Amino acid sequence: MENTILVTGGAGFIGSNFILQWMAKERASVVNLDKLTYAGNLRNLEQISSDTRYQFVHGDIVERKLVGSLLERHGPRALVHFAAESHVDRSIRGPDDFISTNVQGTFSLLEEARAYWIGLPEGDQAAFRFLHVSTDEVYGSLGPDDAPFSETTAYAPNSPYSASKAASDHLVRAYYKTYRLPTLTTNCSNNYGPYQFPEKLIPLMILNACSGKALPVYGDGQNVRDWLFVEDHCEALRTVLERGKPGESFNIGGGEEKHNLEIVEIICSILDDLRPHDPVVPHRKLITFVKDRPGHDRRYAIDCRKIERIQGWKPRESFESGIRKTIRWYLEHEAWVNEVTSGSYRQWIESHYAT
Ligand code: NAD
Ligand code: TYD
Repeated sequence: MENTILVTGGAGFIGSNFILQWMAKERASVVNLDKLTYAGNLRNLEQISSDTRYQFVHGDIVERKLVGSLLERHGPRALVHFAAESHVDRSIRGPDDFISTNVQGTFSLLEEARAYWIGLPEGDQAAFRFLHVSTDEVYGSLGPDDAPFSETTAYAPNSPYSASKAASDHLVRAYYKTYRLPTLTTNCSNNYGPYQFPEKLIPLMILNACSGKALPVYGDGQNVRDWLFVEDHCEALRTVLERGKPGESFNIGGGEEKHNLEIVEIICSILDDLRPHDPVVPHRKLITFVKDRPGHDRRYAIDCRKIERIQGWKPRESFESGIRKTIRWYLEHEAWVNEVTSGSYRQWIESHYAT
């Protein structure tokens, strides 16, 4: 077994943050398998693209032959699985890709990882890890006074996205229980930070506010999410990979529950200071309530005492500091923004918000 990890979906938002952090802090090499869907962007990894410890492979996780040959060729000590269709609204419009990548793709990885792992010498078998990166959305929706999601909360997914992630989590669990494949699962709350594709709430609001476009808040804007700065999530994943016991799952969250309207108002008020000459100021004048998302989960909140207790992890960033860093990043990366907000992105925005 080599000192290499195989990452899937490393050209997306969290995957690219993970690889950048990994290359800065760890010694193992990285092979990044990504299909480069609309959400995958190799520019995110430009600064490490010529590093000899990094290799990109363009391909689909569903293709078992490809996955199997990468495992054989690179002999990784871990597989870190980010690749997914990740946007709830897109899953409502067209669930097919969610089933293919999130369910079938995870199944392909598990089958190929199992075949590879069985062939390893005993010591290497014990050291190998399959880390499955999942979401808190598998637990469904909380009422205002409900206790936050813990690792033992029953699964109750409500969107095609969360149902497909739940299915993949169950497969991962079964591969540990049935075959003893050394799996780890993490269920994380909403991430935000650099490189997030601007179909998601925070980057969409930052970019729309700067250009004087409407800020579309679904329903009454009182849906609650628990926000985590992406670099804190990546640190948690490195910790779980290093110290997590096979078969375990860990909830990861920021301890920053906020309703959507509050998020949008915070973004607007920071932009009022940073960009007093934008087309519409104060930026909050752009807030527009639009039709609610069908099946819209009301509240997510994470109990992350397990990872704090067992692994000693805690988020470093508060929402206050993380959102400032994030806004600054988007303002300073105009070329990245211009590239991702052309083409298929425009079509999505036009069709989704037109109805
Ligand atoms: P993303 O949509 O930004 O990136 C997904 C990446 O996967 C892209 O690079 C895409 O090209 C790649 N991909 C898609 N289908 C593929 C396939 N069939 N084969 C190979 N690559 C493929 O997603 P993200 O926000 O970075 O999320 C990463 C993971 O973390 C996902 O599994 C998601 O469910 C989970 N997660 C995300 C959040 C969040 O707030 N973004 C929170 C909790 C968990
Ligand atoms: P999103 O970033 O899509 O993440 P998720 O659905 O996985 O939580 O949305 C976060 C919250 O913001 C969610 O309650 C839906 C809401 N939202 C809006 O109000 N307007 C928007 O334009 C978007 C994209 C999301």
